[in-house]
Amino acid sequence: MRIERSKAVSDRIAASIRSGELPAGTRLPTHRELARKHGIALATATKAYRELADAGLTVGERGRGTFVRDLSGFAGPDARRIPVTDRVADLSFNQPLAEEQPLALRRALRELASEGDLASLLRQSPPGGHMREQAAVATYLLGRGIDVPPANVVLTNGAQHSLDTALATVARPGAPLALDSLTYPGVKLVAQLRHLDPVPVRCGTDGTDLDALEALCRSRRVSAAYLMPTLHNPLGFVLDTSARERVAELARAYDFCLVEDATYAFLDAAAAPALQAFAPERTFYVGSFSKNLAPGLRIGYLVVPTSHVDAVSRVLRATSWGVDTVASALVTRWLTDGTVHAMESARRADARVRQKAAVHELADLGYRAHPCAYHGWLALPDDARGDLVARTLAERGVLVSTGDAFATSPERANALRLALATPSMEQLIRGLSIVREVVGFA
Ligand SMILES: Cc1ncc(COP(=O)(O)O)c(C=O)c1O
Repeated sequence: MRIERSKAVSDRIAASIRSGELPAGTRLPTHRELARKHGIALATATKAYRELADAGLTVGERGRGTFVRDLSGFAGPDARRIPVTDRVADLSFNQPLAEEQPLALRRALRELASEGDLASLLRQSPPGGHMREQAAVATYLLGRGIDVPPANVVLTNGAQHSLDTALATVARPGAPLALDSLTYPGVKLVAQLRHLDPVPVRCGTDGTDLDALEALCRSRRVSAAYLMPTLHNPLGFVLDTSARERVAELARAYDFCLVEDATYAFLDAAAAPALQAFAPERTFYVGSFSKNLAPGLRIGYLVVPTSHVDAVSRVLRATSWGVDTVASALVTRWLTDGTVHAMESARRADARVRQKAAVHELADLGYRAHPCAYHGWLALPDDARGDLVARTLAERGVLVSTGDAFATSPERANALRLALATPSMEQLIRGLSIVREVVGFA
C-alpha cells in the first residue's frame, strides 16, 4: 500500500514528538524549510503540518510558526527535579489531603488489624469488588439521586480505570467518541490507547454546545460521549436540568452511550441530578474516592447500565481483575461510619475558601471558576505562550497545567488551569501572588 508522502513526513515528526525527542514548545521548521529538508512540494509540507495539528500534536501561531504542543499538562522543567524546598505551590494537580487524615488512617488500619478478617484481605477480590463493597457504594450513591442495585456498581482502581473500563466496553477501535473541545487530559490518553477517534465538541465556560453535539450526531455515528456535567475540568461549568435532559434525549435519538465523569460532583451539592438519572439505560457513571478521601487509595467506581454488566466484568478481568483489598476495606469502612460524609462537607467548605482566594487574586486578570470548584481557568493574553508562562512559574516554584493539555481540537488553548487543592493555605496564597506577578507581566 502506498503511503502518502505528507503522511510519511508527519508520521516521522509525530514519532519524535511522542518520544520526547521534540519537547513541548519546540518551534518546528517553516513549511518551506520542511519541504526543502524532505525534498517534497510546499503543498505536501503544508499538508503534513495540517495532519500533525489535526492529531493534536502541534499548534500553529499566526506570524510565529508551528510549535510542539504540550501533551503532558505541564511544560516547565520536570516537576520532580525542583527541590522540595524551592517548591512554593503545586497548582498542577488536585491532591487534597486534610491534616487529620494520616491519624484517621492509622486508627482505621489498627481497627482493621484487630477486628478485620485478615485472611480475607489476602484473597483476591472478585472483578468489581465484593457484594458488600458494591452495596456500600450503591447506598452512598442514593445521596446523589442515583438508585441502582449493588450489582450495577463495580469498584475500580480509580476514576481513570473506570473511564478506561467504560470506553473499552462501549467503543470499538476507530469509533467516534464525542468529547468537549477542552476536557480532562486522562480521557485523551484512554482514547489514544484504545484507538478511538476523539471528536471535539465546542464548549465554553457556560457548558458544552449541545447544538454542536447534535450536528455531530447527524453527520457521524457517535458511539459514546464523554461529559463532565458537574464541575467540568478544566472550565468548572455545571449543566442545568434542561441541558441534561437534552443530552439524554440526544443519546436516545442517536443511540449512543454516555460516559459521565462525576469525579468532582461531590463538591456541588446543589447541582441538577446526574445524567445517569435521566438515561440510566445508557449512562456509565464514573466516580472516585481520590478527591473526597485521598488519591493514593486508588479506589473508584463505575455505575454500569444493566445491559453492560457482563461486558464490564470481562473488561475488568482483562485489565486488573479485582481491586486492592486493604484500600477497598478502608473505603467501605469510611463509607459506613460517616467519614466520607464528613470529609465531603469539609472539602466543600475548603474548596470555597480556596476559590475565593484565587478569585480575589486573579479575577481582574481574566480568571474564571465555579465558586464550588477546586480549580479554575486563567486565559492568557494573546501574545503570551502558555508553556513559556508555565516554565517561568516553575522556575519560581509554582507548578501549573497549561490549557493546551486539555485541548482536543487543533485550536490553541492559551490559558493555564490552576488546581487549588494541594498546597497548604499559606502556600496557595503565595503561589497565587506569584501567578499574578508572572501573568500580569506576560
Ligand atoms: C475529571 C477527572 N476524571 C478522572 C480523574 C482521575 O481520578 P482518579 O484519581 O480517581 O483516577 C481526574 C483526576 O484528576 C479528573 O480530574
